[in-house]
Amino acid sequence: MKRSPALLALLAALSAPLCLVAQSPSLTIQVNQPSTKVSPTLYGLMTEEINYSYDGGLYGELVRDRVPARTWGSLHYWPAVARGNAVSHISIDEKEGPSAAITHSIKVQVIGATEKAPAGVENNGYWGIPVRPNATYTGSFWAKTDTPDLPVTVALENDQTGVVAASATVTGVSGAWKQYSYTLKTGNVPVSQNNHLLLTTTKPATIWFELISLFPPTYNNRPNGNRIDLMEKMAAMHPTFLRLPGGNYLEGDHIADRFDFKKTLGETVNRPTHQGPWGYRSSDGMGLLEFLEWCEDLKVEPVLAVYAGYSLAQEHIDPGPALEPHVQDALDEIEFVTGGPETHWGALRAKYGHPAPFPLHYVEIGNEDQFDHSHSYDGRYEQFYKAIKAKYPQLQLIATTPVKSIKPDVVDDHYYESADTIFGMVNHYDKIDRNGPKIFVGEWATREGDPTPNLDAALADAAWMTGLERNSDLVVMHAYAPLLTNVNAHGIQWDTDLIGYDSLNSYGSPSYYAQVMFAGHVGTEVVPATLAGTPDRVFTVATRDEQKHKLYIKLVNATSQAVPLAISLEGAGKIDPKAKLITLTGKTPNATNSLAAPEAVVPMEKAITVSTKFSETLVPYSINVLEINN
Ligand code: AHR
Repeated sequence: MKRSPALLALLAALSAPLCLVAQSPSLTIQVNQPSTKVSPTLYGLMTEEINYSYDGGLYGELVRDRVPARTWGSLHYWPAVARGNAVSHISIDEKEGPSAAITHSIKVQVIGATEKAPAGVENNGYWGIPVRPNATYTGSFWAKTDTPDLPVTVALENDQTGVVAASATVTGVSGAWKQYSYTLKTGNVPVSQNNHLLLTTTKPATIWFELISLFPPTYNNRPNGNRIDLMEKMAAMHPTFLRLPGGNYLEGDHIADRFDFKKTLGETVNRPTHQGPWGYRSSDGMGLLEFLEWCEDLKVEPVLAVYAGYSLAQEHIDPGPALEPHVQDALDEIEFVTGGPETHWGALRAKYGHPAPFPLHYVEIGNEDQFDHSHSYDGRYEQFYKAIKAKYPQLQLIATTPVKSIKPDVVDDHYYESADTIFGMVNHYDKIDRNGPKIFVGEWATREGDPTPNLDAALADAAWMTGLERNSDLVVMHAYAPLLTNVNAHGIQWDTDLIGYDSLNSYGSPSYYAQVMFAGHVGTEVVPATLAGTPDRVFTVATRDEQKHKLYIKLVNATSQAVPLAISLEGAGKIDPKAKLITLTGKTPNATNSLAAPEAVVPMEKAITVSTKFSETLVPYSINVLEINN
């Protein structure tokens, strides 16, 4: 089609304003005009017993179902084992148990056993028991037998090859319940995952076993301690707090299944175990003191969630006298955490091995009480609030949903959303009233990727965190959730979890690395950062640390295009030209990490040269942290 000069002139006139709009992308930072302080507790951790996070995860125990779960009516994880002509019959004995807390046991009837034909019971662990070379495993079991002076051999045996990596014999197992300890030392054996623990005897006998336990080396060598690789991954996240013990795990499906801290203390034989809300029973090896020692090992503070009278199956306790025992439990729990040795619960903590009180500033009353259809939370929160403040006025008390009865110190907001939704929420807290309670974003995640989030999710997470950091005068704390998942089939109840593992190995998702990058590079004050001319889905936040003379600029490019950015550092004074750029990126938003490819998407660091005006190109689908010395 031939165009007339008039039409061409009109087209030119129409396109002129468009040219003006397409300004080149820029970022301006007002380095000397801090707008607000960064909350010193901004980045933290949230976990609970979900996805085999503790049992079969962080908690070092390698024996699955060490107190057999009677409710399942079987000894699913405890096959009988018999060699040669020997026979082994396994059952649960409801009348024989080692303590008032554990009143049942595994009854093993061994017939015709000899030195060459031993028999007993085995345990396959949490999808295999991992074996490493030159390692020392410490174990114990409670037992009694009808046959005096019975030997019991404990061995780590490979599922496929039958090769024994280590074994030890406990002698003198006798007629009264007693705990027996053993040590298994491996030599120069190959690393393997598919092993089981065998407990056999060489004589005909009936043996009752309970609490059969085996631990690998643990983080900081704590007895009853935690898995080293997962603790290291958490430490690398630079957390400042750990919200414990949940989540839904705090509440339980029923009131009787709540996290009852008093039943999680002391020797494991005195812990009855309890049903968790995520489909399996908790060993409670991760009891309140173990949670607190986990905090201590990571050098973080607990954010203590106390049960507040609501459980998930719509069971609740009305405010008033019926709730008082639970309020008292909360006061006792706080005393266990913070009390001196002259207090009842502080003395008990000392007796269990930790004389020094733990620091505590935040207590959360319940979990997600907006789901309580009885709408009793207003009254329940008020009752807890008044009782706790009367004794501990210094504590900040978190409400799990807004209440009218009293102004909470902090309200806990939870978000589990798609990437699209999260991108649209980045400015959410820019607009929230500063005269209301402070905000704890106690659980949040972009839910894309299964079992662990992909790069798209990480981009949205990072964008969201620019908003949290910018608003950290209001948002005093936040935590991604859930943190951990055992990636074996049937191990996962909730997909998109930050860190995945099996019994041997673990990996961080792209979202994990976004957390590591953000929490590891945060200043003490927010400084204004303004983007212009950038496409949608480019986000930024900047903070500075005057003491360390650092400026941290975070930039998220969630688009498929490279974004060349002209960066101005206004009022910066003297700038060190040597700076650092850390980038997390991948070829597509679906890029991800897994056990098989744990480092497909990891942060890369490079040296760059900067001045008060410089350029940097944000590669497509990238999360970037610029660390500048000034
Ligand atoms: O993080 C998983 C669950 O999500 C938590 O248990 C609960 O608080 C929330 O609904």
